[in-house]
Amino acid sequence: MNYIPAITGTGVFTPKEIITNAELVVAFNAYVDLYNAEHAAEIAAGTLDAKAYSSEDFIVKASGIEQRFVMDKTGILDPKVMHPLFRQRSDDEPSLMAEMALEACHAALAQAGRQASDVGAVICAASNLERAYPAVAIEIQQLLGVQGFAFDMNVACSSATFGIQAAADMIRSGSIKSALVVNPEICSAHLEWRDRDCHFIFGDVATATLIERAEDAKGPYFEITSTRCATEFSNNIRNNNGFLRRSRPDGVADRRDMQFMQNGRKVFKEVLPMVAEHIAGHMADSGVSASDLKRLWLHQANKSMNDFIGRKVLGRDPAPGEQPNILQDYANTSSAGSIIAFSKNSADMVDGDVGLICSFGAGYSVGSVLVRRHG
Ligand code: COA
Repeated sequence: MNYIPAITGTGVFTPKEIITNAELVVAFNAYVDLYNAEHAAEIAAGTLDAKAYSSEDFIVKASGIEQRFVMDKTGILDPKVMHPLFRQRSDDEPSLMAEMALEACHAALAQAGRQASDVGAVICAASNLERAYPAVAIEIQQLLGVQGFAFDMNVACSSATFGIQAAADMIRSGSIKSALVVNPEICSAHLEWRDRDCHFIFGDVATATLIERAEDAKGPYFEITSTRCATEFSNNIRNNNGFLRRSRPDGVADRRDMQFMQNGRKVFKEVLPMVAEHIAGHMADSGVSASDLKRLWLHQANKSMNDFIGRKVLGRDPAPGEQPNILQDYANTSSAGSIIAFSKNSADMVDGDVGLICSFGAGYSVGSVLVRRHG
């Protein structure tokens, strides 16, 4: 028997602390002053390049980002630290990712009118996992009181859409009746806040999506009519941190490649055609034309990228509200971005409305989910 999967609830956990571009640039420029003073002799001798200041104007122009939410701003904004400072938790305490995930999961369950005990599986899909094992998903499962099973998965920025496809396929085949796909993204801990080219890019958040059999939905829902995932290997977005790092002779302390790295321009050039082609193929094979689409909820990395994809998919400039952006407030939150956009901009859709969730990023990876509103 083939069941129809449906999104019956979504939830967003937003951290309490905000860093505006103005605050970020003040901290970054203070770090630059410290760095240049400390290395004055090498800079004067021409053996080291002085670091340049960042600017608010550039950040907004290049990305559309105006602020970001983070789990700890004190460490990030201290020019002598420049990374979040998290208290080391004991193994008996809930992990930070699990804690963030819980709030998002509870919100998704509440929207669907469900209890955790109604859920059959938890997939924790995120760009970074705070430990190798036990799976963060299993901890979330236990903290929520979900029966069944749970597992972690990582497809970087596409983790949420790939997770939704995995859950939807399991529901279609009948192996589970429902699943929470949860995306706790602590991007502030993988960002190199001392690198002017990317220090403004990321923020923290957690999103959750409850997927059930459509026939079990207690209220209005979004039928998942079709999903499509694709990957193509690229080194243009990379983080070399991993469990083999300790065996490296050169130590790990200040290695730039142990944080997020990207060739932003190449990403721009290579990912855009890949995404545009992916969406066009997915829509054509599903019999969905541009005029059928009421809304696009895109990955939230960069405003010009989203504007480009919106224009390509619709064949015209998207009307206001047709392709909602949230990155001006949240920055890039990796896999969670398209789900925040969906969660905050889908309640007004009416019975029969069709929309597309799409994420893309490191791998390269791209995942798209076509949905139709019921009720
Ligand atoms: N403040 C001021 N100037 C800056 C700056 C900063 N923080 N960072 C870079 N610049 C300068 C550069 O020095 C460069 O100056 P030059 O032309 O004199 O050499 C100029 O701005 C352009 O830099 P560039 O890095 O080419 O900017 P960009 O317009 O390509 O924007 C990104 C950079 C990263 C925002 C953009 O390439 C991007 O978003 N790419 C896609 C990223 C993406 O999707 N990543 C996925 C992550 S999951």
